[in-house]
Amino acid sequence: MCGIVGYIGEQNACPILVDGLKRLEYRGYDSAGVAVLNGNGIDVRKSVGKLKALETALENCWPKGGLGVGHTRWATHGRPSDENAHPHSDCTGKITVVHNGIIENYVQLKARLIEEGHQFKSETDTEVAAHLIESHYKGDLAEAIRTAAKEIEGSFALVVIAQEEPDKIVAARRHSPLVIGVGEGENFLASDVSAFLKYTRDVIYADDDNVVTITRNNIKITDLDGNPLDKKPRQVDWDAAMAERGGYEHFMLKEIHEQPRALRETMRGRLSLEKDCVELPGINLTDDEIRGIDRIIMIACGTAYHASMAGKYAIEHLCRIPVEVDVASELRYRDPIIDEHTLGIVISQSGETLDTIVGLHEAKSKGAKVIAITNVVGSMAARDSDGVLYTYAGPEIAVASTKAYTTQLMTLYLIALYFAQVRGTLEPERARQLREALWELPRRAEIILDDYRDVIAAAERYYCFNGFLYMARGINLASALEGALKVKEISYMHAEGYAAGEMKHGPIAMIDPTFATIAVTVKSATYDKMLSNIREVKARSGEVIAIANPHDETIKDYADRIITIPETEEIFSPVLVALPLQLMAYFVAHSRGPAIDQPRNLAKTVTVE
Ligand code: AGP
Repeated sequence: MCGIVGYIGEQNACPILVDGLKRLEYRGYDSAGVAVLNGNGIDVRKSVGKLKALETALENCWPKGGLGVGHTRWATHGRPSDENAHPHSDCTGKITVVHNGIIENYVQLKARLIEEGHQFKSETDTEVAAHLIESHYKGDLAEAIRTAAKEIEGSFALVVIAQEEPDKIVAARRHSPLVIGVGEGENFLASDVSAFLKYTRDVIYADDDNVVTITRNNIKITDLDGNPLDKKPRQVDWDAAMAERGGYEHFMLKEIHEQPRALRETMRGRLSLEKDCVELPGINLTDDEIRGIDRIIMIACGTAYHASMAGKYAIEHLCRIPVEVDVASELRYRDPIIDEHTLGIVISQSGETLDTIVGLHEAKSKGAKVIAITNVVGSMAARDSDGVLYTYAGPEIAVASTKAYTTQLMTLYLIALYFAQVRGTLEPERARQLREALWELPRRAEIILDDYRDVIAAAERYYCFNGFLYMARGINLASALEGALKVKEISYMHAEGYAAGEMKHGPIAMIDPTFATIAVTVKSATYDKMLSNIREVKARSGEVIAIANPHDETIKDYADRIITIPETEEIFSPVLVALPLQLMAYFVAHSRGPAIDQPRNLAKTVTVE
């Protein structure tokens, strides 16, 4: 997820671009750049690091000109560096592009363009778009972009300027957001309205496969065949802060809602129903190495550790490989049994958590190959592992991890399906069923996020209770622990995640009318056992909120409140169970009032012991 901005008008473009990028930094901040068109051609300035580094590089020599584009990057292809920072240009330097998205077929396109004689300077997929547009350019930038967009697979919001056409900016989008700011004698383009809200509140939202041409006094939108489309501006009444959060009160709620998109981006290029298989470029393991794995050890902390617990179930169930999961801070002191037949899987949103990194090095020192599942390109976990699978969730600003967690689960499921494919441990028909169920998950997540009034109502009742017990069985034990952590870390309430079968071994002593129990009772092999556990809680006058599937008539006789989520394969259910539990934690905290995005005592990345 990156921030893009474009400006054309009477004013000097560069200060407007930089100011817009400041408001988009939450979308990415590992490098930044601007390109301004003036009488001497396109002046491109870019630098690795936060936007401040670009401002320092621009000091006293800001490019002059009334037309320009800017970009703040969250790397997906190519580590953060000066040469990989946007904007990117074609061979001539006369066409310059900024981009937000993932061009899935960039390798194939790049190979063809190199054969046609194009010279590349970066490792990015975006630079491929610049050369692709150049290859189709015959004096009409919009037409060249329409032709190029038809060849691009994946997600993109491209904003493009051309030296030969100094009176316009042309943009195109598919799956990545693109908004137009309608000004007086000036117009804007951006990833979201926060970039230009101080200049205009009149906004047009581009749709998929729209091609937008803006000049100082005109806006033209067409489809990919050049047919004009009529879109009316609308007024945005958010303030700048709300706009940065996409209209949500907190980044955490915004990021909860980003999960369907993040899940799709994480599947993109890896799960293909047409190809009838899973592909994991970047895992960097040969089929023989995958067949030679006799044990997996997962290393993570916090929420990532909970993801690894669910991953254990999925991999053992689908691949029949024994999996150990370890809290990284414990692994490093227990002299673990690891050898060259062990595969280490490190899970870390930031890729910088000290204990996890030390665990990574410990596993490698004992001969294991290690792959990282991380959200940050170029992070230490990515650099120090033998292979890396990114989660493509985009920057996660809120300290409480949400979209990183569900995309970690998604990545672990893809690994389980891929290893099962290679090791032949799944019947083809069963494998197809599972791929289809995984493909469907983002849509089912959207159903949950479309209406969660029952979660809000539950939070409004239970936020003043003495605490929560989250109980579940099987793969959803991970969900119970994660749900408890969420409510702990943002509402500061007491919450326990427990295996429901453990109730009689202690936790049931906590139950009373002021201690609420959340039971995960989605369709599973242990559903009836969960009903018995609910009955135990009710017998002690505890109130029970059940997370259940629709049309479950039985649960109505057991739980006080029922929050329904769409059915899916049991091993995939933690992705959907996570959503009401994240929302429950958010609205409980919202009722109690602490600083939800930045809870007390916590940091987003724990780089100390
Ligand atoms: C999760 O909500 C917490 N913020 C925390 O437990 C986090 O998951 C943990 O610190 C691990 O961080 P990482 O994924 O960046 O390694």
